[in-house]
Amino acid sequence: MRLLLKTTAIALALTAAAGSVKAAGHGGVEVLHWWTSGGEAAALNVLKDDLEGQGIGWTDMPVAGGGGEQAMTVLRARVTAGNAPTAVQGLGFDIIDWAKQGALANLNDVAAAEGWDAVVPAALQHFAKVDGVWVSAPVNVHSTNWVWANKSVLDANGISVPETWEDFAAAMETLAAAGVTPIAHGGQAWQEATVFDAVAMSTLGPDGYKAAFIDLDPEALGSDAMKEAFDRMAVIRANVDENFSGRDWNLATAMVINGEAGFQMMGDWAKGEFLNAGQVPGEDFLCFRFPGTQSQVTFNADQFMMFDQGGSVSTEQAALASAILSPSFQSAFNVVKGSVPARTDVSDADFDACGKQGIADLAAAASSGNLFGSMAHGHANEAAVKNAMYDVITAHFNGEFDSETAVEELVTAVEIAQ
Ligand code: GAL
Repeated sequence: MRLLLKTTAIALALTAAAGSVKAAGHGGVEVLHWWTSGGEAAALNVLKDDLEGQGIGWTDMPVAGGGGEQAMTVLRARVTAGNAPTAVQGLGFDIIDWAKQGALANLNDVAAAEGWDAVVPAALQHFAKVDGVWVSAPVNVHSTNWVWANKSVLDANGISVPETWEDFAAAMETLAAAGVTPIAHGGQAWQEATVFDAVAMSTLGPDGYKAAFIDLDPEALGSDAMKEAFDRMAVIRANVDENFSGRDWNLATAMVINGEAGFQMMGDWAKGEFLNAGQVPGEDFLCFRFPGTQSQVTFNADQFMMFDQGGSVSTEQAALASAILSPSFQSAFNVVKGSVPARTDVSDADFDACGKQGIADLAAAASSGNLFGSMAHGHANEAAVKNAMYDVITAHFNGEFDSETAVEELVTAVEIAQ
């Protein structure tokens, strides 16, 4: 059923796209993205307005589905049909993949004119500049190891911000006893993997996370610490409500916003939903790093890949790239989106408490060797490996494997996927 719905959504998106190409035409851009929740759409409007202010038309090509899996399916179909959109939201290894296929335009002129090399962090350049060529424009830096909490629910139950896994487990128990859903969760593979990013970081530690998810070391993948990560996932699974299956991430965020649930483990795009609902950090909701990962940042950066339209980069593509990298846009957009700037020279003055923490955490993690690409959001490994991990994590979450079997399956699945 879910597959059918997805296929229908993709078919509709493709039909819409066929009609929209002309509209994009000359003087405009067609932008494929998956920013369809309330908070995401509010952030996207900052970009649309910026471009429209420059007289550049915007043809919107939204493909719903958190994490972008469906958007990438539509993209592949469009490219195969010889009808690539002008600009496409992309993540990590997917960008490198499209660049290696020769599908992306060369942005080196605009990058050189605007000095991107000096202001975009090295961790992002790794995915934006492939073989010396800038192929995409980084919009932001998100990170996945956050927890979001309803402040009055926590206060009413005498719970303070958990520092350790044991604190967190105790808080879940208290909420369950009080009849509140401890964890708001959406049962979709990418969401389970997002939770796993933080949980595995807490049990494996930074070296173990890197060894397992980035270096794909079979020993780290098959370690006792990995089994413990799966054990913790089982505890989390026991603390979600019975309707979690298939729920979209923003609906899970809404459960925390309206006090139905205590916590959500999700990337900082969740903050966009709290802000969109008029909530204030520190007053209505809390943001904190997943217990045991306070010094680490698992990041993913949204970028816009510029697809080669048969020649050099178009004026509109260059204008879009330039608008995205402008310091004022980087502040205005990321304040709304929940992410932090993709440049190191943007002031944190306009950011709220969570945003200021995000900016400081990112800088500290980058300089102390604690910044790692997110496994769940395509910044640790290519799609085949990521999807192999998704399958095991989600099967375990849904009770198909116990933790010991999940560890064995993980080692095997990753070996096969490489
Ligand atoms: C991430 C993306 C975010 C947000 C999230 C949920 O992959 O980086 O910007 O959109 O998915 O859709």
